[in-house]
Amino acid sequence: MAIERLVEPTVAQNDSEEERIEISLRPTTFDEYIGQEHLKNNIKLAIDAVKKRADGSTLDHVLLYGPPGLGKTTMAGVIAHELGASLRVTSGPAIERAGDLASILTNLKDGDVLFIDEIHRLRRTVEEVLYSAMEDYKLDIVIGKGPAARSVRLDLPRFTVIGATTRTGSLAGPLRDRFGIIHRLEYYKEPEIEQILNRTAGILTTKIEPEACKLLASRSRLTPRIANRIFKRVRDYADVNGDGIIDTAMATSALSLMEIDHLGLDPADRNMLRLMWENYGERPVGLTTIAALTGDEATTIEDFYEPYLLQLGLIARTPKGRVVTEKGRKHLQNPENNV
Ligand code: ADE
Repeated sequence: MAIERLVEPTVAQNDSEEERIEISLRPTTFDEYIGQEHLKNNIKLAIDAVKKRADGSTLDHVLLYGPPGLGKTTMAGVIAHELGASLRVTSGPAIERAGDLASILTNLKDGDVLFIDEIHRLRRTVEEVLYSAMEDYKLDIVIGKGPAARSVRLDLPRFTVIGATTRTGSLAGPLRDRFGIIHRLEYYKEPEIEQILNRTAGILTTKIEPEACKLLASRSRLTPRIANRIFKRVRDYADVNGDGIIDTAMATSALSLMEIDHLGLDPADRNMLRLMWENYGERPVGLTTIAALTGDEATTIEDFYEPYLLQLGLIARTPKGRVVTEKGRKHLQNPENNV
């Protein structure tokens, strides 16, 4: 990452206190989970059907995709909880060899849920083992090498995979086909983010005034993880500079200190927009060029910066690359946004 970002929608990993709070804020049931109504209704129905059948069948494998920070991991936890199942969490890059996956799978129990984050980053050799595991609950492994090698087939418990990815496009067709339930997580609506912030304030026993809550919601990129992160910073600010109550004045000063503008963009977003505009104007520019300009990885641009800027219509995707839109140019040139 070229610039450390408050609005970074990945889970904090170097700050255990931050991580602990984040986990404490996660809802555990569908009733507590705010937003994503379409997804919730569909999965609730599938879970009710499994429970009603009570014939030992398990929930179909579920693939959740969409921009980071929208609650894919949280949703996996809720699904496991509602099923009354245990949740095992891993990720595509963490499973280095087929043997690692074999050991995870053979340690599962009937009905368990296996959450695989960043499933698009699974290695091919691992992915192939996962196919038959997901399809027939069988584990095909090769024992030995060379002429002595032989293949054995082991029975596995009946389990449900919940895969999460920021892009379905980079998932191999055969893997995607093994998911019976595929859903996109959408950006939240502002009133939903307000509800999430009010819930967070309750859990962290902080008072927030309704207008201040609206203001924070409007700067949170429609993303719960970012809303909660901003909330914690503003709470710190109000504790240090006031009596701990978050009112509009506190929220405004704290947001300005964090350099978050009225659309929720931070200096790194504005820097990318500015570099695109100054170097290419209205002409399209390729992803790798943008990455070279900002000093980030192309995948970082694609997964973290771009989705929200596209959602806002500040940039657009064309067959020839990304362009800064009229709205993007106006945003850059509005002195109010040069916070
Ligand atoms: N905290 C983070 N995401 C949430 C959600 N979708 N509902 C309730 N609380 C949350």
